[in-house]
Amino acid sequence: MTTLDNFYSQVRAARPLDPILLDKPIALEALQTPALVIDLDVFERNLQKMQSYLSAQGIALRSHTKMHKCPVIARKQVEAGARGVCAAKVSEAEIMCDAGIDDVLVTSPLATRDKVDRFIGARKSHSGIKLVVDHEQSATLLNDSAGAEGLSVDVFIDIDPGMGRTGVEAGEGMLRLAEFVCAAEHLKLAGIQMYAGNCMHIEGFQDRQAKYTKVMQKGIETLALLQDNGIEVPIVSGGGTGTYNMEAELGLINELQAGSYAFMDIEYRDIGGRDSGVFSDFEVSLFVLVTAISQPQSRLITVDGGFKSFASDKMPPQFRDVEGVIYHWGGDEHGIIQLDNPSREVVLGDKLAMLTPHCDPTVNLHDFYFPYRDGLVHEIWPVSARGFAF
Ligand SMILES: Cc1ncc(COP(=O)(O)O)c(C=O)c1O
Repeated sequence: MTTLDNFYSQVRAARPLDPILLDKPIALEALQTPALVIDLDVFERNLQKMQSYLSAQGIALRSHTKMHKCPVIARKQVEAGARGVCAAKVSEAEIMCDAGIDDVLVTSPLATRDKVDRFIGARKSHSGIKLVVDHEQSATLLNDSAGAEGLSVDVFIDIDPGMGRTGVEAGEGMLRLAEFVCAAEHLKLAGIQMYAGNCMHIEGFQDRQAKYTKVMQKGIETLALLQDNGIEVPIVSGGGTGTYNMEAELGLINELQAGSYAFMDIEYRDIGGRDSGVFSDFEVSLFVLVTAISQPQSRLITVDGGFKSFASDKMPPQFRDVEGVIYHWGGDEHGIIQLDNPSREVVLGDKLAMLTPHCDPTVNLHDFYFPYRDGLVHEIWPVSARGFAF
């Protein structure tokens, strides 16, 4: 018998937060598949490239941990220079706090007492946790819960960029909520958030930039409206991998919430970069290693990764090192490879790396990462917040 709170606490306490060191390094080919693997050289280059680009532009990085759900990676991002991290939900944020990450912004609003109390529970032991609000009702709940504990909470007001997902309406609606937050005894207006997820994957740099510039105009006007009314907003948080090199010119976002840049995936690779049809600013560092396990027909070979290994909300996965073949979903555990004109022979027992269609939900299907360098895995990193979507 247990309470729901005790249950959640026990589950959380059991989650590993640190790297698990192997007695002896193991070769990639010795991994049991499907396995989520990270090319460390590429991953580190991605971290370094994003950080040095943003630092040169005077933009802070608050990397989004919804993508990797892994405090080992969050720590590396902070060590590389990130101001802090984002978490999509309170449970994800708790894991990052447990792992010692100081500055954590929860980027989804909360609308019920239980969740707000849970957030305040985390805030009691972790002064750097922050939350977005997009409605007076949630601001009131937060203010009351913080007041009951004698705390003051940093909040970011979330502005709807026209996606209709979360956020208060830009303009007058935002001004009213900002005034409400400023007047609330236990809330402190630390910033605004405007994340235009509807722009991140627009194909073609020019088209993406044109749409993004238009969408963010409302944010620029709203910021001016707040300033005209004597409300100063130190941080404007938002943007992502797809807009990282548009923010400085636009001049609104001073804190980037990018996530995917660390791993990359097929969806992002295909959006196109500033000068090329392929978005190669960041390279793919995340793969799922699969094994060819069956060949029922001569022109087909089956690998052991299906819906349970790859998120299937987008296109099918692709091999890193084999061209001229097509992956067909073969169900929960299988992918059927159509061997049209393979650039190399694929035979039973082969272990092959596949690019993920969409990194965030793919990661959430796995418990561990196997980071490798020179073909060797030295340690295992837990996907500590896997399934923590509450
Ligand atoms: C609120 C928020 N900020 C930032 C990001 C990170 O975006 P990306 O992975 O495109 O860099 C996301 C991703 O969905 C998000 O929901």
